[in-house]
Amino acid sequence: MATPPFPLVLSFLILLSLSSSANSYPPRSSKHAPRFLGKFSHLHQPTDQKYETRYFEQRLDHFSFADLPSFRQKYLINTQHWLGPSRLGPILFYCGNEGNIEWFAANTGFVWEIAPRFGAMIIFPEHRYYGESMPYGSREIAYKNASTLSYLTAEQALADYAVFITELKRNLSAQACPVVLFGGSYGGMLAAWMRLKYPHIAIGALASSAPVLQFEDIVPPETYYDIVSNDFRRESISCFNTIKESWDIIASKGEENDGLNQLTKAFHFCRKLDSSEDLSDWLDSAYSYLAMADYPYPADFLMPLPGNPIKELCRRIDSCPDGTSTLQRVYEGVNVYYNYTGTVDCFNLDDDPHGMIGWDWQACTEMVMPFASSKNTSMFPEFEYNYADDEERCLKDYNVKPRPTWISTEFGGHDFKNVLKKFGSNIIFSNGLLDPWSGGSVLEDVSETIVALVTEKGAHHLDLRAATDEDPDWLVDQRESEVKLIKKWLQEYYDNKRATFTA
Ligand SMILES: *[C@@H]1O[C@H](CO)[C@@H](O)[C@H](O)[C@H]1NC(C)=O
Ligand SMILES: *[C@@H]1O[C@H](CO)[C@@H](O)[C@H](O)[C@H]1NC(C)=O
Ligand SMILES: *[C@@H]1O[C@H](CO)[C@@H](O)[C@H](O)[C@H]1NC(C)=O
Ligand SMILES: *[C@@H]1O[C@H](CO)[C@@H](O)[C@H](O)[C@H]1NC(C)=O
Repeated sequence: MATPPFPLVLSFLILLSLSSSANSYPPRSSKHAPRFLGKFSHLHQPTDQKYETRYFEQRLDHFSFADLPSFRQKYLINTQHWLGPSRLGPILFYCGNEGNIEWFAANTGFVWEIAPRFGAMIIFPEHRYYGESMPYGSREIAYKNASTLSYLTAEQALADYAVFITELKRNLSAQACPVVLFGGSYGGMLAAWMRLKYPHIAIGALASSAPVLQFEDIVPPETYYDIVSNDFRRESISCFNTIKESWDIIASKGEENDGLNQLTKAFHFCRKLDSSEDLSDWLDSAYSYLAMADYPYPADFLMPLPGNPIKELCRRIDSCPDGTSTLQRVYEGVNVYYNYTGTVDCFNLDDDPHGMIGWDWQACTEMVMPFASSKNTSMFPEFEYNYADDEERCLKDYNVKPRPTWISTEFGGHDFKNVLKKFGSNIIFSNGLLDPWSGGSVLEDVSETIVALVTEKGAHHLDLRAATDEDPDWLVDQRESEVKLIKKWLQEYYDNKRATFTA
C-alpha cells in the first residue's frame, strides 16, 4: 500500500454518510484517527436503571463575558439510595463523553451497583454538543461551522460540570456532600483532568482507560496499532500473518480490471466499493474495535460478540481448509465482528449516519493524537505520523488549525510521574492491557494516592461495566480495589470534616 491515506478507523463511515449532501459542513474528508466508542452511543440502550432525566440551563462560554445564548444540558439523576445532605451522602458523578448520555449510563453498571453501598446519589450529565445537549438549539446549527463549533472543548465541558455540580449542590443544600468522579475513555480523561483542575469540587476520580498521555511525543505513535497487533499475535501468529499479508493483496486487487467488483463480491457488500481503501478501512476498524472490546465474556457493547472475540476471529481464519485464499480467510474472520449473529445479508458501508462528527472536530482542534504503524511490529500497513497531513485535512474539513501542544499545556502530560508525585491526589487510572488505548494511559503508580490498576487481560473500560456471573477473578478484584480506594477517599473526607467541626 502506497503512502497512507490508510487506515485510520472509520473514515469511510463519515465519507459515505456525508456523500449525499455534497456541500454540507464538514465536507467529505480523508483520514481520521481511531475513535473511541461514543459513535456507538445511539445503539443499544436497554437498561433497567432508574433515573430521572432533567435539563440544566448551561452557559455557552465559561471563559468570556460575552452575551451568548445559553443551552439546555441534559442529565440523568438517581437519588434512590442517597443519604441526603445532613448525612453528607456522596455524589457519584460520571463525566459524560462523546455520545448520548443514556448509552454511557447503560454501559457503566459499576457506578449503579456501588451507589447503594455508599448511600450515594448518581448523576450522569451529557457532554455539550452530543446527544440532546446542543448549543444553539439544534445539532444543525451547532455543527454549522468553525465558529459555532468553537465551544466544543474539554475545558468548556469541565467548566459545565463544575458549574452544574455547584448549582445542584446549592439547590439541594448539599454543599458539604463529597463528589466522586467517574469516566471511561475520553470521559476518563475528563474525570482525571477535572480532579486536577477542580480539586475543591471533587474529592477523587476513577479514570478508566483514559489515554491522557496519547499526545505529542509522550508515548510513541506506534503504540496504539502495536497493541491491536499484539492482541492478534498472542492468539495466533498465522492469523496475524494472514491479516498482515492481506493489505497488499487488497490494494493490488483493487487496481485490476474488475478488481473492485471482485472485492465487493468476496466481502458481500451491498453495493460496489468505490476503492479498495474503503475495504481496508472497514477491516481496520473491525480489528481496532475488536481489540477494544476483547472482553472475556460475550457482550453486546459495540456489536454482539462472543467472549474473547479475537480468539474466535483467529480460529476462523486459521481453520479454513488448506488452499483457502488470504482474502477468503480475512472475510471469514471479520464476520465475527460484523456478522456474529449470522443474520446480516450483505455488509453496508453506509450505516451509522450521525452522531460521530463531534469527535472529529475535537481531534482537529485539541485532541491531536499522533498515530503510526511500524513495519516490524504492526499487522497494519506501515505508515508514519505526519502532523502536516492532519493540519491540512482539518483546514480543509473544518476550516480550523489544530493546536497539537495545547492539551499538554493545559493539563500536563510530559514528565507526568514527577510532576504529579507532589501535586494532586486521589486518582485511579485503571487499564486493561488488551485495550489499544492503554498504551497512552498511566500504567504505573504515580504516588500513594495517584494509582494505576492494571489488568493483563482487560480491555476498554471493562471495569466500569456491570458485574456478570462470568467475571473472572482478576476483574472482581480490580473492582474491589477501586471500591476500597473510593471508600478511603470518603473516609478521609469525613474524618477531616469531623476534625474541622470539633476544632
Ligand atoms: C456560522 O454559522 C452561524 C449560524 O448560522 C452564522 O451566524 C455565522 O455567520 C457563520 N460563521 C461563519 C464564519 O460562516
Ligand atoms: C436549581 O434550581 C433552579 C431554580 O429552581 C433551577 O432553575 C435549576 O435548574 C436548578 N439547577 C440544578 C442543577 O438543579
Ligand atoms: C452472515 O453469516 C451468515 C451465516 O454464516 C451467512 O450465511 C451470511 O452470508 C453472512 N453475511 C454476510 C454479509 O457475509
Ligand atoms: C525491523 O526489522 C529489521 C529486520 O529484522 C531490522 O533490521 C530493523 O532494524 C527493524 N526496524 C526497527 C525500527 O526496529
